[in-house]
Amino acid sequence: MITITFIDHQRQATTVQAAPGTSLMQAAVDNSIAGIVGECGGFCSCATCVCQVDPAWAGRLSAPEAMESAMLESAAADSPNSRLCCQIALSSDLDGLTVHLPESQF
Ligand code: FES
Repeated sequence: MITITFIDHQRQATTVQAAPGTSLMQAAVDNSIAGIVGECGGFCSCATCVCQVDPAWAGRLSAPEAMESAMLESAAADSPNSRLCCQIALSSDLDGLTVHLPESQF
C-alpha cells in the first residue's frame, strides 16, 4: 500500500493508504477527503480535483500532460505545484506523498 498525506486549507493533515495504480483523486474520494470532488470521475474534464503538491515532492512527479495543463489553466490553478489529482497514478515511488488542498474546488 502507498501512504499519502492530504493537508487541508486549515493545515489539518489526514494520512491514508491506497493500492498502487489508484489515482490520487480516487484515493481521496475513497477516504472522504474534503476538498477533492472528482466530479468527472477522473477524465480530466472538471478540474474539481486540484491539489498543490508539497514542494518536497514536486520534482518527483512526472510533468503534467497538455490536457491537464490546459485544465489547470482554465481553473486558474496557477501555482507551479498545482496538479489534478486524477492525473497522478500512485506508485511505490510516491509512497509518502504529501499534497495540499484548497478550501474549495468551486
Ligand atoms: S476528477 Fe475531473 S479533472 Fe480530475
